[in-house]
This record gives sequence, C-alpha cells and structure tokens, in this order.
Amino acid sequence: MYRSHSCGELRASHINTDVTLSGWVQKSRDKGFMIWVDLRDRYGITQLIFDEERTPKSIMEQAQKLGREFVIQVEGTVIERESKNKNIPTGDIEVLVKELTILNESKLPPFTIEDETDGGEELRMKYRYIDIRRNPVKNNLIFRSKVTQEVRNFLSNQGFIEVETPYLIKSTPEGARDFVVPSRMNEGQFYALPQSPQTFKQLLMVGGMDKYFQIVKCFRDEDLRADRQPEFTQIDCEMAFVEQEDILNVFEDLTRHLLKEVNGVEVEKFPRMLYDDAMRLYGNDKPDIRFGMQFGELNDVAQHKDFGVFNNAELVVGIAVPDAASYTRKEIDKLIDWVKRPQVGALGMVYVKCNEDGTYKSSVDKFYDQDDLAKWAEKTGAKAGDLICILSGDTNKVRAQLSALRMEMAERLGLRKPNEFAPLWVIDFPLLELDEETGHYHAMHHPFTSPKPGQIELLDTKPGDVKANAYDLVLNGNEIGGGSIRIHDKETQAIMLKHLGFSEEEAKAQFGFLMDAFEYGAPPHGGLAFGLDRLVAILGGQETIRDFIAFPKNNAGRDVMIDAPAPIDDEQLDELNLSLKLNS
Ligand code: AMO
Repeated sequence: MYRSHSCGELRASHINTDVTLSGWVQKSRDKGFMIWVDLRDRYGITQLIFDEERTPKSIMEQAQKLGREFVIQVEGTVIERESKNKNIPTGDIEVLVKELTILNESKLPPFTIEDETDGGEELRMKYRYIDIRRNPVKNNLIFRSKVTQEVRNFLSNQGFIEVETPYLIKSTPEGARDFVVPSRMNEGQFYALPQSPQTFKQLLMVGGMDKYFQIVKCFRDEDLRADRQPEFTQIDCEMAFVEQEDILNVFEDLTRHLLKEVNGVEVEKFPRMLYDDAMRLYGNDKPDIRFGMQFGELNDVAQHKDFGVFNNAELVVGIAVPDAASYTRKEIDKLIDWVKRPQVGALGMVYVKCNEDGTYKSSVDKFYDQDDLAKWAEKTGAKAGDLICILSGDTNKVRAQLSALRMEMAERLGLRKPNEFAPLWVIDFPLLELDEETGHYHAMHHPFTSPKPGQIELLDTKPGDVKANAYDLVLNGNEIGGGSIRIHDKETQAIMLKHLGFSEEEAKAQFGFLMDAFEYGAPPHGGLAFGLDRLVAILGGQETIRDFIAFPKNNAGRDVMIDAPAPIDDEQLDELNLSLKLNS
C-alpha cells in the first residue's frame, strides 16, 4: 500500500496515528540534527520531520539526499507541531518519519512549483506536466472537471441523451478553415475534422433523439487569441419541436445552475438585447454589461457646424468615462495614442471634460459652444467629473474602435470585476454578413440557420436586413455560446444555399445528405453550443482559456511539449499517397 492518507488530510485528531504517505518533495530544510520536508500531492502539503534522536540513522542519511520533486513514500507517526502553521489545513501536525523509500528521483525542475512561478509561458508549456503540479493550474483543471460534471448532471436530468458523433467527417462550413486528414484507403481524398458536430446533431433530430448533448472536441484552423484554441471543447446541444423561447429557457437554466453550483451566485432572469441595439449601444455583439459607458450617438448634435472631421463622418459617437475629467493633458494624449494604435485604428479622438462646476472644456472648443457640449453630455449620459471620449468615421469601424476604448477604460478603472457575473442573451442576429473584401454575403452563424418568419422574401432585395432566429449567450463581455433555430425543409435550405453562392451541384455535393434527410420527416429543431473552455475560464474569473486546458497549443498553434505539428517520414507519406504532391 503506497499510502494510508493523502497529504491534505491529517489533522490534530490524527495525533499518535501511524500513517503512510506518498508524494513529491516540495522543499526540505536540513538543520543537520533535524530535517523538515514538505510533502505534496494533489490534496495538499504535510510536513515531515526527521529527527536525529527519533529517526533511524540510515533514514536520516537518505533524507539528506532528498531533492526537490523527488517522489517518496514515508511511514511514521502523526505528532503535534511545535510551531503551528495557520496557513495550511495540516498545519497543526507533522509526521515523524520512521521509514523512507525513494520511489523516484527527480532532476532539478526547470521552474519553481509555487503559485507564483519563475517559469515563463513557453517553459511552462514545454514542461506542462510539471506546471500541472502548481496550484493555479491544478485547481483550474479540477474546476473544469466540476463544471463538466454539473453540465452532465443538469442535462441528463432534463432528459438529454449524450451521443458521440464522428471526428473524421467532411467539411462543415462554420466560417473557419478545416484541419484535414488524408485517407490511406481512398487515394487523393481527405477527411475534415469537425468545426462542430452541427450537421450530425441535426440528423440526430431527424433520427428522433429529441434532446441531444455532447461534450465534444471541435477543430478550427483560425488565428489564435486568448479565447481561441485550434482544438477546443463545446457543450453541443440540440432539441426537436422547439422554438427559440424554449431553447433560451433551457440553456439559461443550465447557466444559472452552473453559476449557483459552481460559483454560489444567484442570478435573476437574463436580460435580452437585440443585436442591432448591442451594436448601437456598445459597438459590439458581445457587450460587457457589468458597467455602463453606453454609446451616445452625436450626429444630430455634432454635425453641420464647421468641424469638417465630424461633418464628413458616417457616425460620430462617444462614451462618458466616469471620473476621468481630472486626466491631465499628458494622460489624455496617451489615451489618444492608445486609440491610434494599429490594433484599434482610430485616426484621432475628440474629448470633453465635464468640469465639477458644470462647465465643459473640449478639444474642439473652436467649433462648439457650451450649449452644444451640454447636448453631447446628455446624449452620452456624462455627469460632472466625467470625460467624454468621441470617435468618428465609418459606422462599423468606429463602433469597433469605441468598443475597444470602452473595454480598455473599464479595465483601467477596475470595472470588470471577475466575481461579478452579468449574463446576456443577444438575439435577432442578421442572417447574412457582407464580406467587405469579396463583396459576397456569407452566413453570419452557419448556413442551416433559419430566417425569421416572413423574411425569406427579403433575401432577394435586402439580404443584409434579413434577421435570423439566432442567438448568442454572452457572459461578462465574452461569447460563451451561440445557436439558432434551424431550417428543416429542403426548399428553404436550397434557397439559403443559393444565396450563399452555392450552385445546385455544389449544394448537392456538400449538403445532399442533409437535404435528403429533410425529405424523410425532419422535425422542427434548434439548439446551441457553449464554448466549454470559455465558460469555465469566465466562471473561474479569467479570460484566457489556455490556463483551463491541460495541454493547450501556443499562439502559433504548436504543442511545444510534444513538438507538434511535425514532418512525417517518407514511408508514411507514400502510404498516404502524398509524396508526389508534396514533391511536385
Ligand atoms: P459557434 O461557432 O458560435 O457555433 O461556436 C459555439 C461556441 O464555441 C466557442 N468557440 C471557441 N472556443 C474556443 N476556441 C475557438 N476557436 C472557438 N470557436 C468557437 C464560443 C462559441 O460561442 N454549431 C454551432 C452551434 C449551434 O448553432 O448550435 C457553433 O459551432 O464560445
């Protein structure tokens, strides 16, 4: 038996008990006549004591050789500690060691196994198995497991059936590039790894499964960010015989359940916001509503004066930054530099200081008088002491820029509190989105999303205006889930694909299986998928999903631990019939 107790378990009530413990040497202090060792496992740390007078000499000698991260087993007796450590649960006791076995030695670890480590990101990823021994990473993985468990409990109790769908499939168009896998047995042909199980879950509805879920890996070859990994996990769900309202209710309940069980937070009914309002008020389809700073559109009150920049802009829009009127000229200049960074891309920023005495001081005093500025303050909801920041330009661009500034200011002002949760449904997304580069429309969500009733006719005349039965769940400014009511008849699906630029042959080749299924009694259906990594990170009070994934990829899509991706040898290439292609 390797152990009778874990390293997090022993208390004063165990004093005089003989125990066996196993774990890693966190640190050891050698005073010659006495050696203390902190023994660590997943459950905690227990102090061991080797004492010249009470521990056999051979064991003392062995203990002197212990290095950090050695794996050891000890037998001994629990005794009361002379100087107690109130900071750890086992701090009242220590184990007086009688037997010591070194189960495995360890090289000196490349970084310290502490909550604050000296190891940089790259090094920690290369030795991720050591990094996982650290509390922050370990606790995140335990936290993730708890969330997953709660999701399974909740959905199973609601009658959802967990079904696995294949990973070797044909491309599903969700907007990113596919990862492809060559087929040895079908020369020149490739599988694609699923970007999501979208079409399969719809086919499960045709198959009568009624309520499906799956905690499933998805693969997308897209540019990576803090909240994006090339392989990530969805809680993928689909239901038959439902309307949008049914779906929102079920998954709102799931999210509320998680907030309560995992975070101990009770949340009222989630607010809902139209996509158009989200864009108008926050410049963003995933607004963080934990704080205000709503946009105030100023075209009416800022144009038709002599200020050419505003007159020529499609949109003039501002936010009131609370209590920032006291910013010095230098601080404001820095802010202007910030919005001009290429990542944000504004050409400049106009500002108005709302003085405590009710007067205004702006960077455009030449063109606007106090009455004008008072109107701007009213439109942006600015109070005395606030700083109004105003950007202008093309509507879409300027909204994105001001949204970035809003988030930055909230971050600086400490308004994005990790333990405060503000969920929000954003509904009535547009069905189509114009790709500015190609001039073509593509599906904003995916091609299987149904337009709102009665809007299909608009597809010919005003495709950009058609709204979909599509919704996103937003938590603290992050899109944690999205879904839609689906098209479930062949004709509508064919019209949709035609508008997305598929010829009849292409539509048949790519989606024939789904259109065929629609001819065999497809029920009305809809669903949603949560991004599990994002959900877990945000519930855990963070936004970087890497820290909640055991073995994540870096920003270049590499696993630096196993060194993947990597070339494969010629023999393997031959077998896959790939050598000719690569060499030609
Ligand atoms: P969607 O593409 O919106 O919808 O994805 C659902 C959720 O998955 C998360 N997500 C990601 N998380 C980490 N890394 C990524 N690269 C990544 N991409 C997406 C987001 C997102 O909200 N089949 C549809 C769902 C449906 O219609 O039912 C789908 O995949 O949190």
